[in-house]
Order: sequence, then C-alpha cells, then structure tokens
Amino acid sequence: MKARPNMDLCGGCGAPLQQLEVLGVVVRRPCSLCGAKREASRIARLLADAARLVSEHSEVPSRFAGANIGDLSGAPRTAVDDFLARLPDVRALCSERLERGDAFDVRTAAARAVANTAGLAFVGPVGTGKTHALAALLIAAQGRFIAGRLVTISALLESLRATFGGRETEQQWLALYASVPLLGIDDLDKLRATEWSASALFSVVNRRYERELPILITSNASPDQLLARTFAATPDVGVAIVDRLVGMAPQWVRLAGRSRRRPLVASVRIA
Ligand SMILES: Nc1ncnc2c1ncn2[C@@H]1O[C@H](COP(=O)(O)OP(=O)(O)O)[C@@H](O)[C@H]1O
Ligand SMILES: [Mg+2]
Repeated sequence: MKARPNMDLCGGCGAPLQQLEVLGVVVRRPCSLCGAKREASRIARLLADAARLVSEHSEVPSRFAGANIGDLSGAPRTAVDDFLARLPDVRALCSERLERGDAFDVRTAAARAVANTAGLAFVGPVGTGKTHALAALLIAAQGRFIAGRLVTISALLESLRATFGGRETEQQWLALYASVPLLGIDDLDKLRATEWSASALFSVVNRRYERELPILITSNASPDQLLARTFAATPDVGVAIVDRLVGMAPQWVRLAGRSRRRPLVASVRIA
C-alpha cells in the first residue's frame, strides 16, 4: 500500500484527502478531520443516550436530589468511598467499547458491574443523615452509569399493594425492584410486618439475593431489633429476610449525634 500525494479535497470540510493505492486501485481515505469529528460526536451522542437511560431508571426523592458525597464526613463518607471504590466506572467501560466500535447495553453492563458487590446499611437515630448519605451514594453511582432507586419501605410496599388485582403491574414493580442495579430501602424499621408485607418484601430481597445485586438500607434499628420489632408478627419470614439482608449488606455503618433537624424542632413556637 503506497500513499500518493493528495489529489482531492473533502466535500465536508475542504481538507485535503489522501489517496491510497490498494492493489493497483486508487481509493480515497475517509477525511481524517471531519470523519474523526463525526465519530467523536456519534460516541458523545451514544453516551448521552446511555446517561438518559440511567437517569430514567434511577429515582431519588427530590429533597435529596442535591445530596453530594462531598457533603459527607466521618463514617458515612468512608463507607461511601469504600463502596464506590469497589464499583467499576461503567461510563468508562462504555466509552472504551464505543471507541472500539463494540455494541453495549448500559443496563446489562451496570448489572454485571455491581453483581456481587457487598451492600451497605446506615443505622442510627433520626436526623443523623442516613437517607442523605444513601442518596449521595446513588447520585455518585449514576454519574458512573449505574442506575439506582431510593425508596422507603412503605412506598415500596404501597407500589406492590396498589396493584392488588392487577397481577401484571405487580410483576412489573417486582421486576423493577429486583433488577435495578442499586436498590436503597429507606427506613426499614418503620415497617410493622404483616404476613402480606413480609412476604412481598421477601420476594424483593430474595430476587436480588439470587441475582447477586446489592441492597442498601437505612434503619433506626439494628438487625436484632428489626427481628424483635419490625418482624415480631412474622418471625419465620422475618429471619429469612434479615438473614439475607445482613449477608447482602454486611457493613452496618453507625451514624450518631444530634438530629440535623433538631434546630428546626426547637425553633417551633406554639401560639
Ligand atoms: N452531610 C450532610 N450535609 C448536609 N446536609 C445533610 C447532611 N446529612 C443530612 N443532611 C440534611 O439533614 C436533614 C436530615 O438528614 P436525613 O438524611 O433525612 O436524616 P435521617 O435519614 O438519618 O433521619 C436532611 O434535610 C438532610 O438533607
Ligand atoms: Mg431518613
């Protein structure tokens, strides 16, 4: 293959085009300027599509939408940093694959990336920043193309309960909670389990357990206290749930201190 002096100009950007002689036939190379730019913008477009897909599959309550790992300090910061250090950056993986011209599916890539990652629980009194820490973690993960949902235990159960009689939708909610790469269950201790709610929660936890997808938790109560109070009326299913949760989220990070909401409570004046 022998390069010959340029004979032509690119119709797109006017840059000189190099001609190549391949086995005696002269061919024109794609323009190295605008061709390369087109490829870069194609990759940028595909990455933007992937980012949109990740944010469509993520949900963090609006109050915590601005939570940032930079806000955290002490034990929650260390736990979140350790957790994120174990997660690959799916965004970087996607960029590499696109640059190589490989196809990729951002959802599958994220689910694979998080599989087998140990989850995390934040435990402590009200107002100590448990939900804030979990939200900050999920938002940081989104920036790495890993979708996550933060849902209170009551909202999770309501979404399943609201579908009584409509099996299809119940299956869709279950499928969503079972497959989103990161699931944060907020205020787990607020549940007073009944046969139905324990069984619904077991379905979610067990499906994630089988798929090796992490669960993140916030709770005012330790695992033993959950068994004694939250699952007092359903001890057998309760043990099955708490056992799996502790297996999937072995690190329970204790948050202490005064409630960050306390100044507001103290400033309320009753007329
Ligand atoms: N590290 C932090 N930086 C800034 N604000 C925080 C931080 N942690 C918590 N907050 C704020 O303090 C309030 C209580 O935090 P929250 O996470 O709801 O507490 P908990 O879930 O433990 O009851 C919220 O308004 C939250 O946004
Ligand atoms: Mg909370």
